[in-house]
Amino acid sequence: MSGSEVFRFDGSLALYERARRVMPGGVNASVRINRALGHPLFIERGEGAYLYDVDGHRFIDYCISHGASLLGHGNPAVVSAVEEALRMGMLLSCETEIQVRVAEQLLRLFPGAQMVRYACSGTETTWHALRIARAYTGKWGVIKFEGHYHGVNDTAGYSHWPSLKEAGPADSPRPVADSAGIPPANNELITILPFNDVDALERCLRSKAGELAALIMEPVNYDSCGLRPTDEFLRAVRDLTMELGVVLIFDEVLSGFRIRAGAALGDEIRPDMTVLGKAVGGGMPISVFMGKREIMETCTPVGPALHSGTYNAPPVLVSAIGAFLNEISRPGFYDHLNALGDRLYTGMKEIFRRRGIKAWVQGVGSRFGLLFGLDEEPRNYRDVSRQDMAMMSTFIRGCINRGVYLHHVSPHHGYSIAHTIADIEETLDVMDRAAAVVCLKPSIVA
Ligand SMILES: Cc1ncc(COP(=O)(O)O)c(C=O)c1O
Repeated sequence: MSGSEVFRFDGSLALYERARRVMPGGVNASVRINRALGHPLFIERGEGAYLYDVDGHRFIDYCISHGASLLGHGNPAVVSAVEEALRMGMLLSCETEIQVRVAEQLLRLFPGAQMVRYACSGTETTWHALRIARAYTGKWGVIKFEGHYHGVNDTAGYSHWPSLKEAGPADSPRPVADSAGIPPANNELITILPFNDVDALERCLRSKAGELAALIMEPVNYDSCGLRPTDEFLRAVRDLTMELGVVLIFDEVLSGFRIRAGAALGDEIRPDMTVLGKAVGGGMPISVFMGKREIMETCTPVGPALHSGTYNAPPVLVSAIGAFLNEISRPGFYDHLNALGDRLYTGMKEIFRRRGIKAWVQGVGSRFGLLFGLDEEPRNYRDVSRQDMAMMSTFIRGCINRGVYLHHVSPHHGYSIAHTIADIEETLDVMDRAAAVVCLKPSIVA
C-alpha cells in the first residue's frame, strides 16, 4: 500500500473516460460511482478482504460487493465448488441432484419454510415473491416501508430514499417511485408506511386488508443504515398479517446470514415467505425465494403463477450456495465474525467520541450504518434523513485516500470473514486520521 496520504487515481480516471463513451455514465450499476470521489474505482482484482485497483493501491474493503461477499473475495471453498460444477456443464438449464441437496440444506436453516425456488438477483426474487403472493391471495395491494429497498423492479421500487419534498407526512408517507418509467398505475397498488410505527401499521392493515396481498420488509433495514424493528412492531407485523390474510415476506437479501446462520432475527417470528440473495451465493450471482408449501405451490407447474427462466438455478451457482452454507456452519464462524464487529464498532465510536465528532455507528452483525450529525439510534427513514452527507463524504474520501474503501453513497457498509483483527486495527488507524480531517473541514473534501 502506498504510504501517501492522498492517492492518485489516474488509471481509474482514464478508464472512466473511456467507459463514459460506451456505457451510460461509465458504469453498469448507477451506485458504482463513489460520490466521495466523483468517479468509480476501476478494480484489478479482489482477494479476501482486499480490493486492488488499477493504480496499484490496496484497499481494505468495507463495501465487500455491497454485502454479497460475506466470505471475502474469492473464497477458496466457493471457487472449488464452482470449478467442480463447471465440469458438469456450464449452464445445462436442467435439474440435477445439486439443486435438491442445497434446497434441503437451506430449509434446515429456515424452519418456517418448506419449499425453495432459485432465481438470479435480489430484484428478481422480490418481484417473484410479490407476484406469487398476489396469485395466492387473489389480491393486488402491497405494503412496504419507507426507507426499505427491495430491488429495481417496478412492483416494489418505491420510497427507498425519497426526497422529503415529495414524501408526504411522516405518519402516512406518499409512494415515491425510485425511478422514472414506472407506470403511474402501479402507485395505486403500493402503500408506504413508516417503519416501527405500530399505530400506522394497524390502521392501514385493518382498513385495507381486503385489497392487500403482501407486506414486504427488511427484518433489519440495512438499506436505511441498519434500523432494527422494535419487538412490539415485529410482533404486530406478524400477528396482524396473519389475522388479516396478508402474506408476510421477509426480504433477507441483505440481512440473511449477516448476524447468524439463517434469518437475521432468528426463528421466533416466522414469515410466510423469505427471499435471499447476496451473501447466500458466496459471492456468486444467485438468489432464492422460499416459504410455506401452500404458497410456494402457487408456482407453475403446480399452480398458476409463472416462474421460469433459462438461467434459473445453474448447478455452477447453486453449488456456490452449498459451499457458502458449509463455510458458515464451521464451528466458530459467527463468533469470529461478530468479534470483528465488536472491535470495529467500539473502535469507531471511541474515535468519534475522542475527536468530538457527532456521529452514530449503527453496527448490526457484520454490516453497519454510519450517520454523521446524529447522536441517538435512528428508528425510521425520517430520522436517517437528518444525517450530514457532506461530513460523510469528507470522512469517506479521507478513508479511501489512506487505503480503506467505503462506498458513498451507500446506506450500509460491512466486512467479511476474511477480514482479520489486524485489518480492523489498520482500519481504525486510518479512520482516526480521516476523522481528524473531518474536524478540520467538515464539509470540504480531504
Ligand atoms: C434488501 C434488498 N433487497 C433486494 C435487493 C436487490 O438485490 P439485487 O441488487 O441483487 O437485485 C437489495 C440490494 O441491495 C437489497 O438490499
